[in-house]
Amino acid sequence: MQGGNHPWPRVAITGASSGLGAALALALAAPGQTLHLAGRDPARLAATATACRARGAEVTETTFDVTDRAPARAWVEGTGGLDLLIANAGTSAGTGGTSESADQVARIFAVNLTGALNAILPALDLMRAQPPGADGIRGRIAAVASIAAFVASPGAPAYSASKAALQRWTEATDATARREGLRLHAICPGFIRTPMTAPNRFPMPLLMEAEEAARLTLQGIARGRARVVFPRPVYAAARLMGALPAGWLSRLPSKAGSRG
Ligand SMILES: NC(=O)c1ccc[n+]([C@@H]2O[C@H](COP(=O)([O-])OP(=O)(O)OC[C@H]3O[C@@H](n4cnc5c(N)ncnc54)[C@H](OP(=O)(O)O)[C@@H]3O)[C@@H](O)[C@H]2O)c1
Repeated sequence: MQGGNHPWPRVAITGASSGLGAALALALAAPGQTLHLAGRDPARLAATATACRARGAEVTETTFDVTDRAPARAWVEGTGGLDLLIANAGTSAGTGGTSESADQVARIFAVNLTGALNAILPALDLMRAQPPGADGIRGRIAAVASIAAFVASPGAPAYSASKAALQRWTEATDATARREGLRLHAICPGFIRTPMTAPNRFPMPLLMEAEEAARLTLQGIARGRARVVFPRPVYAAARLMGALPAGWLSRLPSKAGSRG
């Protein structure tokens, strides 16, 4: 996917200052590519932007908190046009899967669900007004959820619930947005080695590097998948756990199916 071999010359990414978002930006960076990168930490965002410019991309950097609706809309509208928005910014309790405090529960939903929508909804408005490209698509949204969306994770209730809501909303909206020449993709990765998973002290099956997760994400979008989910064995295990009768999860180790 690197080298501009895709129909998205104008891409915006939230959470581009770290982990998967930075890897996505780098994977896309190439001559002819415009990248609108957003994050909160200006130094780490600048580091991603500099690396992307070194690969030949045109880059803008904007810092704001995705839970603030007005700057998120202003950022999207300020791009002037987008082929792809990747709503990637997300958060977890950062406790290694042991608990979520009341403040963390509120924050996790605000960032992972409302924060994602704060960028996605203005992007859909922007894209509706754009002419369709050669592929008949006016614009695409990739919402980064998680495989945790498919399990009521005992170690991360708000995280898994926020990701489930984002994944459901994205797939349901895609079904109707297609009629308008818009596509939405729910990105559902398994465990990725990033600062988010660094505190985890429990086994993370098939933990992947951020570069590989970025490659699979972009590949899934290019293939037009409504649900981009990987790795498949972790997905199968998550679906199996998700299919257990309610209450059975309490018999599993508390960290099983935790955040990531
Ligand atoms: N790592 C995994 O195993 C895994 C698995 C599945 C899904 N995911 C999802 O992938 C996405 C990226 O996660 P990651 O693993 O790359 O984590 P990360 O390294 O912690 O990066 C999170 C990114 O989101 C940004 N962010 C967090 N809260 C924000 C807010 N309120 N406003 C604006 N930006 C905010 C951060 O910006 P600053 O650093 O500038 O504050 C950072 O760029 C998340 O949605 C996560 O839930 C991760």
